[in-house]
Amino acid sequence: MESPWYRVNSFEHYKQLYSQSVENPDKFWGDVAESFRWRKKWDSVCEWDFNQANISWFKNGKLNITENCLDRHLSENGDKVALIWEPNDPKEKYIQWTYRELHNRVCRFANVLKENGCKKGDVVAIYMPMIPELTVAVLACARIGAVHSVVFAGFSAHALADRINDAQAKMVLTSDGLYRGLKEIPVKRVVDEALLICSSVSKVVVVQRTSWAVKMKPGRDVWLHEELDKVDSDCPAEPMDSEDMLFILYTSGSTGKPKGIVHTCGGYMVYADFSFRNVFQYDENDIYWCTADIGWVTGHTYIVYGPLLSGATTVMFEGVPTYPDPGRFWQICDKYGVNQFYTAPTAIRALMAQGDEHVLSYSLDSLKVIGTVGEPINEEAWYWYHVHVGKERCPVVDTWWQTETGGIMISALGDHGPHKPTYAGYPLPGIQPVLLDGEGNEFSDSDKEGYLAIKHPWPSMLRTTYGDHQRCINTYFSHYNGYYFTGDGAKRDENGMFRIIGRVDDVINVSGHRFGTAEIEDAINRNPQVAESAVVGYPHDIKGQGIYAYVIVRDRIDDDEVLRAEIVETVVEEIGKIAKPDKIQLVSGLPKTRSGKIMRRILRKVAEGDTTNLGDTSTLLDPKIVDEITEGAI
Ligand code: PRX
Repeated sequence: MESPWYRVNSFEHYKQLYSQSVENPDKFWGDVAESFRWRKKWDSVCEWDFNQANISWFKNGKLNITENCLDRHLSENGDKVALIWEPNDPKEKYIQWTYRELHNRVCRFANVLKENGCKKGDVVAIYMPMIPELTVAVLACARIGAVHSVVFAGFSAHALADRINDAQAKMVLTSDGLYRGLKEIPVKRVVDEALLICSSVSKVVVVQRTSWAVKMKPGRDVWLHEELDKVDSDCPAEPMDSEDMLFILYTSGSTGKPKGIVHTCGGYMVYADFSFRNVFQYDENDIYWCTADIGWVTGHTYIVYGPLLSGATTVMFEGVPTYPDPGRFWQICDKYGVNQFYTAPTAIRALMAQGDEHVLSYSLDSLKVIGTVGEPINEEAWYWYHVHVGKERCPVVDTWWQTETGGIMISALGDHGPHKPTYAGYPLPGIQPVLLDGEGNEFSDSDKEGYLAIKHPWPSMLRTTYGDHQRCINTYFSHYNGYYFTGDGAKRDENGMFRIIGRVDDVINVSGHRFGTAEIEDAINRNPQVAESAVVGYPHDIKGQGIYAYVIVRDRIDDDEVLRAEIVETVVEEIGKIAKPDKIQLVSGLPKTRSGKIMRRILRKVAEGDTTNLGDTSTLLDPKIVDEITEGAI
């Protein structure tokens, strides 16, 4: 398998491709797209109008992404390993499937979907742990043109139900239970609870993972293994339009309700492959491992689609970094001879805190490129990763991107180009980021912070927010006319390398996962004892940001600790354990201006532990409340 022409092989080559991509984007992306299998060629490469958020790539082209992920590799690489699955328990046997085997499994699963009434355009919610059937399920949907909406299996029944209802999903694919570290979670029971308030779902397909007894609702619930016995492996891929929906993935924004980000087939395919090959510098026999969960966009693009489009061997891990001990990641790297390793700063910090001996007892000789994603990586974690994992030999690729961007936007490309701790680096070819000041003017001064925006479309950008296009326009395209607004602040050094500072909106990034402050407040407010709440982020050693909640309760007669525990429980029920507040301060009021707006600046400072200079508080309705809040800070 030869690398395609667009795989960058030096920093000079990067600069060349970058200028070609900016001078003539249509020609550049049209040429990249030529290397895929299309049923019918496109009429135009890119048509766009940022004001209306109308974007199309490879218009009227016909393709199926699974033909490009699987069928296309069969003649030359059918026997190459496509997927390695490492179970939670290191004593359990791993799974290794070749491209031919994966193809066969995807086709059979796709036939099960069809037999159970699923057709092109239907939305299928997938709520599954990190088992190999999850990858198969995603591809099976794509095979028949069903739109997958993967919901991270750590979300609560309530959060799952919201997502199912928003997309009016017809089917749910799930498992009986899950193992994660020492935890065992009855996944199917969560689905059952969610479906009590979802009327759109007519079928549930259940994968047997734990063999626990589960209730199966007659007529609705079926076991995957029983259904697979009834079908064969012949399933021609459904021809899709480039702009047909491939998937929906929910993500949080600054309002209470998560948005369904919509990605479409053609452009997403082209950019997933393009960015994967370039950032990770994947070579033919490499073993690549991304530790993310497929419930997030990183897993979609860089466990499933990017690697498989590129004909890579991709590793999938069911467990957690600290089970059975904090050397697990490194043990897996040595076990399979992993060459590219991609993880999150929060995992690096958690492992760093466990002591160096765990990483030092493994060789990690096979590693060539190591990457991070999800949040800014602090210098200490960067150096630890570089020295102890990369052995000062492997480039660290700090990849900046978002659910909305579909693929990596700013990053070093393997070892081609400079690496600087805490700097993501330069944009990939085809990506045109700019920094804007508060008035929306572009500036190029170095070391000046601004709003990060993108001024030209790229193939894998979001197309809409499901069911509410106006929300897409308002959130991303109306802050600054003519730009896609990322919601992040950034700056550039004197050489033009980008450093991402973090969110500039009311979004908190906890362990690389996004939550809107309003979303957590809404959850807290569902507790009947709560009158009002305000949530802010604060720096957290491991998670990057922690969740700090200020809560006004109706009647403070109960024990404060009991109250706090009940509030946490409400959040777990409404969203899931991942959104648990780290600190809850019970207060009698919030710092509000006369117009009723909460002065979050003050709450943020107090949460950060900095009460020295809270700024002007004279415009507050009740300035005394600030003293109470500072005195009671946790
Ligand atoms: O704030 C940025 C941060 O994560 C946000 C996107 O979150 P999500 O859509 O959940 O996707 C995460 C995985 C792609 C961004 O707006 N972020 C992501 N990567 C980085 C980052 N911040 C700094 N450096 C990064 N490398």
